[in-house]
Amino acid sequence: MAIDKKFIDQFINVTSRAAYASSFFIGKKDKIAADKASVDSMRAELNKINMTGEVVIGEGSLDEAPMLYTGEILGTKNGPDFDIAVDPVEGTNFVANNLPGGLTVLAIAEKGNLFNAPETYMNKIATGKIEKGLIDLDYPLKKNIKNLSEFKNKDISSLTVCILNRSRHKKIIDELNDLNVNVKLISDGDVLGALYVSDPKYNVDMFMGIGGGPEGVLAASALDSFGCFFQGRFIFDNDDNIKRAKLMGIKDLKRKYELSDIVTGDSIFCATGITSGDLVKGVNKKGDKFITETLVTHKSTKSNKILIKEDTIKT
Ligand code: FBP
Repeated sequence: MAIDKKFIDQFINVTSRAAYASSFFIGKKDKIAADKASVDSMRAELNKINMTGEVVIGEGSLDEAPMLYTGEILGTKNGPDFDIAVDPVEGTNFVANNLPGGLTVLAIAEKGNLFNAPETYMNKIATGKIEKGLIDLDYPLKKNIKNLSEFKNKDISSLTVCILNRSRHKKIIDELNDLNVNVKLISDGDVLGALYVSDPKYNVDMFMGIGGGPEGVLAASALDSFGCFFQGRFIFDNDDNIKRAKLMGIKDLKRKYELSDIVTGDSIFCATGITSGDLVKGVNKKGDKFITETLVTHKSTKSNKILIKEDTIKT
């Protein structure tokens, strides 16, 4: 069953207001305060919606987070059952240091249709729409690049790969350099990094590398609406992670997840800018109003657009 599109405006309102709340901490060097402001606002607004929404990706387990914890039920409980994934501030460094790309992110799917991702790293790969079997997380890098270059009819030297600038990626970055591929290094924010593949205007042909698992699920839900390709594999590299994964019912710790394993059925994704970036502009305050920009996707109606919203500042 499709998610009624009447919910779209309500979810945009959630991320928009949360971005506004967090915007007071732009450049204030306080990642925790920026996150808390967004969490408080998101939770309050989600609780007003006529739904029974279970947080499947949130701020951590109940003993780690009192609000938006995994398993928390939100909404008036008078409406459809949803799975909710939130990243109240994606790019906390961006907001704390007044850098481009800070976002408030939310994904909603029908109950049971959004993967409950553990708080571990995930190895990810994403491209625009491709043929099945063309790209694979398990292929050697050179094969993926060669296949993509042939498929897109583009020289390898005109392909661009986006990857988080981390020492763990040194080998990949060196190999991309040797292949003469353009490398777009990002300092943080790999939800946005993955979303670059959704539109040729960003000039990113492939996103890859290790980043947060929850961020992987959020990106996947948006990429699903764009018809893009995504695969991910969680990395369980210590006893704690392994224990937690087993508790969550994950049996095969080395499993490669296809996009369809991560999100099935209908979904809505909203990402509102806190600070301005490539995707959306940041919060703009004007007198007693604030203006926000949100990328919103709704799979069943095949819609994806940037929505500008003006709202009144409540005192
Ligand atoms: P926060 O907004 O929670 O700080 O996350 C930013 C981020 O860059 C994510 O986009 C990414 O998935 C993750 O951190 C990468 O983690 P690490 O900084 O440990 O490499």
